[in-house]
Amino acid sequence: MEQKKILFVCLGNICRSPSAEAIMKKMVLDKGLQNDFCIDSAGILGIHEGQLPDSRMRAHGKRRNYDLNSRSRAVVYQDFFDFDLIIGMDDNNIEALEQKAPDLESKKKIRRMSEYCSKHSCDHIPDPYYGGAQGFELVLDLLEDACQGLLESTKI
Ligand code: 4NP
Repeated sequence: MEQKKILFVCLGNICRSPSAEAIMKKMVLDKGLQNDFCIDSAGILGIHEGQLPDSRMRAHGKRRNYDLNSRSRAVVYQDFFDFDLIIGMDDNNIEALEQKAPDLESKKKIRRMSEYCSKHSCDHIPDPYYGGAQGFELVLDLLEDACQGLLESTKI
């Protein structure tokens, strides 16, 4: 079976998208489907290039048994060819991805993370960077919901 290649994207690639990556990787591993998926994350900005996720995000993730160990990187041109789904967290991410997409085929790969939520009604995953602990917990709640929906939608 063809591997499903999924790229999660947020602004800095140190809070939301590395969390989505860790949650999705754990869900897939728990189901023994790790060979059917290639999962990565990236940021619209490259200002945190090479850094581990934000320490607050890592701490909140750890409490739910997620290991946030990816290194920040920016979205690159090749991503639009390498991945099947490129999933942004909010309007700004989606707009920036649409501007970066090199052709119509790659534009069709762009999705919104909140569209996969079923338990929570939300239209974006809010940026927790300038807020408090509740914001990080909300990000994890929404991403867990969305990753569940995403896994179901891939029908592997
Ligand atoms: P993220 O959060 O997009 O979820 O990784 C942010 C991280 C860093 C910044 C903004 C948002 N920043 O401005 O540095």
